[in-house]
Amino acid sequence: KVLFYDFVLKETPIEMLCETNRSVITVNGLFPGPEIRAHKGDTIYVNVTNLGPYGITIHWHGVRQIRYPWSDGPEYITQCPIPTNSSFLQKIKLTEEEGTLWWHAHSDWSRATIHGPIIILPVHNTNYPYEFDKQHTIVLSEWYARDTKDIIDEALESGGDPELSVAYTINGQPGDSYPCSNDSVYNITVVQGKTYLLRIIHAGLNEEMFFCIAKHNLTVVGMDGAYLKPLNTKYLMITPGQTMDVLVTANQTIDHYYMVFSPFVDSIAPSNENITRGIFQYSGSKSSETPALPELPGFKNKSGAGNFTTRLRSLNSEEHLSTVPTNITRNITITVSVNEQPCPANKTCAGTDGSMLSASLNNISFSTPSISILQAYYNNLPGVYNKTFPNEPPFVFDYTGNVSALGEAANVSTEVLMINYNEEVEIRLQGTNIGVAENHPMHLHGYSFYVVGMGDGNFSDSYVSDYNTVDPPYINTVGVPKNGWTAIRFKADNPGVWFMHCHLERHASWGMDTVLVVGDGKLKHQKVYPPPSDMPPCTVS
Ligand code: C2O
Ligand code: CU
Repeated sequence: KVLFYDFVLKETPIEMLCETNRSVITVNGLFPGPEIRAHKGDTIYVNVTNLGPYGITIHWHGVRQIRYPWSDGPEYITQCPIPTNSSFLQKIKLTEEEGTLWWHAHSDWSRATIHGPIIILPVHNTNYPYEFDKQHTIVLSEWYARDTKDIIDEALESGGDPELSVAYTINGQPGDSYPCSNDSVYNITVVQGKTYLLRIIHAGLNEEMFFCIAKHNLTVVGMDGAYLKPLNTKYLMITPGQTMDVLVTANQTIDHYYMVFSPFVDSIAPSNENITRGIFQYSGSKSSETPALPELPGFKNKSGAGNFTTRLRSLNSEEHLSTVPTNITRNITITVSVNEQPCPANKTCAGTDGSMLSASLNNISFSTPSISILQAYYNNLPGVYNKTFPNEPPFVFDYTGNVSALGEAANVSTEVLMINYNEEVEIRLQGTNIGVAENHPMHLHGYSFYVVGMGDGNFSDSYVSDYNTVDPPYINTVGVPKNGWTAIRFKADNPGVWFMHCHLERHASWGMDTVLVVGDGKLKHQKVYPPPSDMPPCTVS
């Protein structure tokens, strides 16, 4: 089936906390934005019209966009921004994804208010691999007191940390722990004995979060648009960018229970020690007992976080088989770091000891070009990017002990990683930050990948024999421990230009990004499609 949606970006007044007349940019006047609902196999056209004050792009997070990077969306990677008062028709083909994904703006920090769900139902006349009575979509977000474009522009200018969000919201509602918000509490009404599918999307900018519902067991059955083996748990650990499909059965006794999102930050104070609460309300209940707050791991509870993530397994059933690459032809190691740069002479920087904060992959801090890398690649334009992203870190040190190399400033440039069509790729992501920073939710566009291994400390070749190549989770965003490692695998069968970056906006803005350029195959159906005629223009300055 072919479906059509209209997205209109415009300034919209939103009442939040105690403010009544602030405007933010939304899609169709909604926060969170409109839901796209389709079946696996459908094709969706979204006509994006920008009536906002500056250029913006929209990305379909987790949709592979096979051979069609033109609609993927990251600004200056696959397209230039859609200028004010113009439109771009984006095409989204749902070929292999099934479950919950989402869409969001991909220009600076504008995704704070420009995001929404993509719900992908099973192919017509097929079933879910689990049972439930009713479903709800839960979009978690972070709310900022000022325009996020100003916040990040000022932080980059001053070389320091950007200001923090002031609240977390569930479907746009901060909940009763925030000022002026008693009437703005997300509420699900449930019926005793019924089972609910919660489609949870972490659209927040900068914090990993725990989620739970007091006194209720959760069963995670899907993640990032693929099914999982049912995992029973008291709480979820979810990073920005990730989505989770969770079953919960209403089997408790009192009138209502709190559901809670609270931040997980391993080493520094969380941006917001607040939590956001919603209500799980039993319909027709007579009990007047006051509900207790649920117990969650504390905001610094690292083993609480790790215990959850390392238990995830893909479903790997007959209908939903895992196909983990086992003949790796390309092995890449990438260090993931938060760095400090010397402060430029004409600036005053607010980083540690007057330095400027930056972030890097293999010690390269990504510099965003001013025309799109995809257009430069497709039309053979020189001078936009270099093909020299290193296959290995430039220096090696003991990431858990000897921290002397942490003083290295990163090189600022636009380097891309060239990959041949159909290579079986393994990427080992090594966190290098011992004292500072937090886990890095690394996200890859154009692919989902299998997480075959993860652990604390330095990666070692001896870990390869312990990889899970049978049923590892198949996801698009993985939390790389800040001082540990994660190994991912995928087959490079989707040619194009694909962004890879930390999904904490703070780190992405500081340069924790790179681009994978996957070449065309020899056959006609292995090549990138030609561009549509209405690509937003790139003006070469
Ligand atoms: Cu969810 Cu590059 O994005
Ligand atoms: Cu990060």
